Order: sequence, then C-alpha cells, then structure tokens
Amino acid sequence: MTLGAAAGLLACPHCAGELQLEPSAGRCERGHSFDVARQGYLNLLAQAQPANADTPAMLAARGRVLASGVFDPLVSLVAQYARGSRRIVEVGSGTAHYLRRCLADEPHARGVALDVSVAAAKVAARADPRIAAVVADVWAGLPVRDGAVDAVVCAFAPRNLAEFARVLRGEGRLLVLTPNPGHLAALREHHGLLGIEPDKQQRLLAAAAEFFDLHGTARLRTPVELSAELAGDVIAMGPNAFHQPTPPNEPVADHLDATLRIFRPIIPTAGGE
Ligand SMILES: C[S@@+](CC[C@H](N)C(=O)[O-])C[C@H]1O[C@@H](n2cnc3c(N)ncnc32)[C@H](O)[C@@H]1O
Ligand SMILES: [Zn+2]
Repeated sequence: MTLGAAAGLLACPHCAGELQLEPSAGRCERGHSFDVARQGYLNLLAQAQPANADTPAMLAARGRVLASGVFDPLVSLVAQYARGSRRIVEVGSGTAHYLRRCLADEPHARGVALDVSVAAAKVAARADPRIAAVVADVWAGLPVRDGAVDAVVCAFAPRNLAEFARVLRGEGRLLVLTPNPGHLAALREHHGLLGIEPDKQQRLLAAAAEFFDLHGTARLRTPVELSAELAGDVIAMGPNAFHQPTPPNEPVADHLDATLRIFRPIIPTAGGE
C-alpha cells in the first residue's frame, strides 16, 4: 500500500496532530478523518481543488515529456543533491517523477508527493510503492509534522518557505529548482508562451533568507532537441495550456536552463533573536 510510505510523516490539517493511516482513511487522535480515494491517494483539501489546478490532459502531457527523457539532466541534478535523504516531501509534485528519481538510489528512502491537483495525485499514487500521494494546497500549510523530513523538493512549483522550514529537520535541506529566462526560450518566443520574470531568482533568495541559509547553487544549461510532438506536449503540460497557444509543426532546437538552489534551515539560537 503506497500510502504507508507516509507513516509518521503526516499531520492533520485541522489540529496538526499525527495522522494515522488506515486503508480507507487518514485519522488523527481528535477524530478528524480524511478519505483515501479508490486510486490510493489521500485527499486533505478542505474544499474542491482550485480551477487552475493541473488537469488530466496537462498531467498526461507532462508524463510523456518526462518519460521521453528530455528533462533528465534536471531530474538527475535534483536527485544528486537529494542523496542521503531518507524521508522526502516533494511539493507541487505533478507526476512525482522527480521524487521517484530521488528515491531510486536510496533503497530505504520513502516520500510524500503533495499536489493541489487530484489528477496529479492519481498519477503520483501509481508512481512508486515508496511514494504516498496527497492532495493538499501548499498555501494552506503543509500537512506534514514538524521536523519530520530530511529533504523538501520543489521543482517549478509554488513555495511556502515558512512551511518548508517547519517540516525539515535541522540538518535537512530544501532543494528548489527554478527556470532561468533562457529555459525553453525558443519555444516561448515562437509560440507565445508565458515568459519567465528575470528577477524570479532574486525574489526567491530574498524571501528565503528569513528561514534558510543558501548552502549551494547549481545551474544547468544544456541544448535540447524537441520533436514537434514533444514540443506540443511541453506547451500542453504547463499553465500555457490554459491560453491555447499554437503547437509547433516542426522540431524545435531549444535549451534547458534552470538553477537548483540548496538551502539549509536556519536553526534559531537559544534565547537569541
Ligand atoms: C509546473 S508543475 C511542476 C510539476 C513537477 N514538479 C514537475 O516539475 O514535473 C507545478 C505543479 O504545482 C502544482 N500546484 C500549483 N499550485 C499548487 C498549490 N497551491 N499547492 C500544491 N500544488 C500546487 C500544480 O498542480 C502542478 O502539478
Ligand atoms: Zn485533527
């Protein structure tokens, strides 16, 4: 049962008590209870998923892109820095492809894939027996116990930095992968895709400083050849899908360009500021 991968890690969204996992529900000591779906994921959302949650079609496109291997250099980079982590939470996990890769080299590791999209949770629930899939909104707080995990992985996904710091143990690490303006720039230029704000990285660093020390930075820029079909899937897997851009009809020569930042939580000094 894949939900068992989250044993001891989850917190009740109402009272923050530990969630015990049963085959058909997650339950805390105070009696709050949450359904386990037939497809094996736990739904902790207080209401229906938001209208902009990734759709089944977006998840299918993302699955094809990741399965093609074109993003492998980025996935391997994240996995390299997650090495040694036994309990990992991936936030905004989509298909949980990054998390799965992080677990691949660690036979005793397990992970929780958190995403606000039910379609994503359905895919993540099937990704790996060591991955528990949970539907939750990062902005409502993570349903994870204080100091419970060794690593938080956030690849191209929303960041609730205060919450990431809370759920990490003192020696844990936060791995944040963000795109640079050159990431898939040819595709963006020719197909009217949403751009990447140039100051995105700066904003991340400024916001993180309250909770984290920057421990390391790894930038990856590498050429990538996208078949017309795959380029269409890259468009369809992201928020651009909501704007109905025109898919390419020939291969696209492009670049992956993203930066991984490795953060360590700031440990408050006793009685200090
Ligand atoms: C660009 S995708 C990245 C998915 C995956 N990390 C990857 O790189 O393949 C962003 C993901 O964040 C999820 N997401 C968006 N808002 C969220 C929120 N408030 N809470 C949790 N997940 C969210 C989306 O459903 C989507 O799966
Ligand atoms: Zn509770």
